[in-house]
Amino acid sequence: MAPLNCESIEFLLNHPKIGSVTSDVNVETIERRSFSPKKIKTFASLYTNIKECPEYRLSHNKEAAKLLPDLIHNTVQMIVPGDEKTEKAKLKFGMPRNIGVFFSGGPAPGGHNVIAGLYDEVKKYNSASKLFGFLSGPDGLLESRYIEITQSLVDAYRNMGGFSMIKTGRTKIDSKARMELALKTCMELELEALVVIGGDDSNTNAVFLAQQFKNAGIKVIGVPKTIDGDIQIKTDDNETLCAISFGFHTAARAFSQNISNLATDAGSDIKYWHVCKVMGRVASHLTLECAFQTHANLSFIGEELADYTDHQRIEKAREDGTIDYTAYGITLRHWSRLICDTIVQRAACGKNFGVMIIPEGILEFINEIQVFIIKLNKIIGDYNHIHDIDFHTAFGSLNAKLEYLRRLTRGMDDTTKISIWNLRDDDLFSQLPSFFREGLLTERDTHGNFQFSQVKTEEIIMDMVKEYLNILKEQGKYKIGIQKTYYNSIMEKTQFNPDHIAKIIFKNPGDNYLLIKESIISQKTLKQVLINSAVISQDDMVPEPIIRIFKKSEPRFKTQTHFYGYDGRGSDPTYFDCNYTYNLGITVFHLIANGATGQMAAIKNLEKKFDKWEPIGIPIAKLMRLEERKGKLELVIEKSLIDLDSNAFRVFKALREGWMAAGENADQYRRPGPVRFTGNAEEDRPITLLLNSI
Ligand code: FBP
Repeated sequence: MAPLNCESIEFLLNHPKIGSVTSDVNVETIERRSFSPKKIKTFASLYTNIKECPEYRLSHNKEAAKLLPDLIHNTVQMIVPGDEKTEKAKLKFGMPRNIGVFFSGGPAPGGHNVIAGLYDEVKKYNSASKLFGFLSGPDGLLESRYIEITQSLVDAYRNMGGFSMIKTGRTKIDSKARMELALKTCMELELEALVVIGGDDSNTNAVFLAQQFKNAGIKVIGVPKTIDGDIQIKTDDNETLCAISFGFHTAARAFSQNISNLATDAGSDIKYWHVCKVMGRVASHLTLECAFQTHANLSFIGEELADYTDHQRIEKAREDGTIDYTAYGITLRHWSRLICDTIVQRAACGKNFGVMIIPEGILEFINEIQVFIIKLNKIIGDYNHIHDIDFHTAFGSLNAKLEYLRRLTRGMDDTTKISIWNLRDDDLFSQLPSFFREGLLTERDTHGNFQFSQVKTEEIIMDMVKEYLNILKEQGKYKIGIQKTYYNSIMEKTQFNPDHIAKIIFKNPGDNYLLIKESIISQKTLKQVLINSAVISQDDMVPEPIIRIFKKSEPRFKTQTHFYGYDGRGSDPTYFDCNYTYNLGITVFHLIANGATGQMAAIKNLEKKFDKWEPIGIPIAKLMRLEERKGKLELVIEKSLIDLDSNAFRVFKALREGWMAAGENADQYRRPGPVRFTGNAEEDRPITLLLNSI
């Protein structure tokens, strides 16, 4: 073969350096794959036992007792070191077993480590045991699409983000036919157990499968996954059993790195407000963690806004001898006013920039929107129940959907006698921008959840903020404060006495940040004030330095909006999530080997240091509550919202004014840095968990 010409592309492509820098596998990936998470102390013991812990009281729902009779009396189970020597233990752990696993719901960093932990443990006791991965979530189970998980596959995904090894899906296993299909697949594969790695709805799936599979002797174990962090389980006596679902820490850290970079940019270019919407379907846990990680100027917590009381309105109503019910709970308008207050105050101290974090699920906590969501859920649910064709297929366009709603107000539909959609609803709804109405009418997911990620909350709220800021600007109340030292340096080069001019044009001439008087809203009014004070005459021009000061005081409100969600879900896991999930995988195996079913694998004391972590099983049946889904009450695992009495929230409340920097104090932005799996730069657990453990 002729030697390659060193200018040819073949030469370049065959060059070893080019091969190594363009390879799919970089140094970070190699290091991640070879990282070994720590193991909880209990797992140093070869065999384990289960200790029933009825002292961890969890009261149950009556409906759950009816539908899950074989599981409702499960108790919390602790995995404890077992007797190493017995033949019985050897047989129990060493028998060959087939286990199936699938991911369900949105990806969350660490999922692959659950599989890795489970795989390592399965193979440790018997190399003939098999782990099957169902493809694309519950669909893989229903359609019998699976792969056998092998050593090389597991090794390629250790400590790596996403769910790409076997993919995920959101299908609900809610009908008898689907249950039977699921059972058939498990029987064909001779599964001893099925593992469901998912969120609240997926663990709901898991417990119903466990009930269904009970007679066939197939165990089902759930694993608490979701970046939203809304699987947090406490006993009736307030003892924490599961402090957080996996993936939460990584997603929050990934979002925070980006948000803190924006804070650095905002404080450098000093012209933008960065508006960051952060995932979290309902609960604002991610926003709270990001607030601690970044010290952004404004972070809104949905759960707090729902609790909002407008004291001014109450007072006004009291003076008028009436009661203003709209003063309780927040409306979009109130919320936009709160945002404006901070923007105006920061601008007054020369900071016409900033960073704010809005939780994706905030709409759930806004009065008028919540009413729309509930009513539309019911209308869509009823329609689907009555008609053969689905609401979204029947009414493809926004106009068609709106026309249907209008018909409801006129009592022209054939479904209900009394419509819950009245003329007032129709009127209020039509005042919303069409993109927002479209968002509210978007298709619910298979579990009946409203898809908050599809709604551009940040746009509607920022439109309202801009509108109100314009009014404040016209009223002369929104101005940029001029630093006194700057003012003096400009004025000292003129023939005017800076103090004299300051008294004429500023409303606070003695302060460090000078605000142009509210009555001076244009260069025309500025000139008039200077003429009235005999600084210049009618024929004079306003001196250029004074114009310069005036122009500097005029605010321009410019925003950049960002959505953080899918990126964080795909991030490689943090050190915390690597360790957490690997141990969850091991816990799953030990629950199965010890005969558990209908339990959620969890790690107790996660909010404490690693040496305190304890592997447990939590009875899923006891977590079930009735919730409105698709207009009907259904049994689901209750989502955990932010507790306004928690340490984390109270500390946030105490510190946020400093972070707002709405006075002369400097911004206190924090730089959390990138997501890591090694080294000392990353905290050992989420900040909110650390605070709640005190
Ligand atoms: P899970 O509850 O399944 O973990 O998903 C959470 C989530 O990431 C939410 O934060 C977000 O609202 C939603 O998924 C987005 O869903 P989709 O992937 O269907 O767009």
